[in-house]
Amino acid sequence: MTQDEMKKAAAIKALEFVEKGSIVGVGTGSTVNHFIDALATMKDQIEGAVSSSEVSTQKLDAYGIEVFDLNSVDDLSVYVDGADEITEHMHMIKGGGAALTREKIVAAVAKKFVCIADESKQVPILGAFPLPVEVIPMARSYVARELVKLGGDPMYRQGVVTDNGNVILDVYNMSILNPVEMEKNINAIVGVVTNGLFADRGADVLVLGTPNGSKVIS
Ligand code: A5P
Repeated sequence: MTQDEMKKAAAIKALEFVEKGSIVGVGTGSTVNHFIDALATMKDQIEGAVSSSEVSTQKLDAYGIEVFDLNSVDDLSVYVDGADEITEHMHMIKGGGAALTREKIVAAVAKKFVCIADESKQVPILGAFPLPVEVIPMARSYVARELVKLGGDPMYRQGVVTDNGNVILDVYNMSILNPVEMEKNINAIVGVVTNGLFADRGADVLVLGTPNGSKVIS
């Protein structure tokens, strides 16, 4: 199986977590694109979706799946999204596609976070993938200096503006031994909107695409 086939296998398996008649939280990325394709096959059995990015919204719209504003939704039974890295403790790095803030908001509302990923995303320790941090544009240099104090090497992601009108710093060489504490420390820097550590609220279930098909870990 190719990496993309493993992503697809995980995405299709995740349909088992979608409750009939519900509004589904939908993440962003290439794995989620497979999930949206799969969700379209049961679109008459769900009420609609809440989306974490403009890109996912467009794809859901194209399938005729109604996209609800999160503010009009009280309850989300499940949020399905990919990850750039995930540990056995279900802590993740996300934001490779710059959608981390909306992803974290939708994840916060959902009762269950189902992470879909190919097996290359499983890591013993987070941090080989540079940690994305969404920053208010005028605070970029200040936040970068503060991230250096935390031990990282921040790089401005040139040419990228998030759906919220902000910029991304990718932090290299960060030693993330305590992801929950690191997530809080980075979020406490003035000018940071949020960072790509999903540790305080990690995944509840990991649906992993492997060469032998999909595997559910919880
Ligand atoms: C988007 O900002 C990210 O959080 C994605 O969920 C993450 O990068 C995984 O993307 P892929 O499914 O494309 O690997």
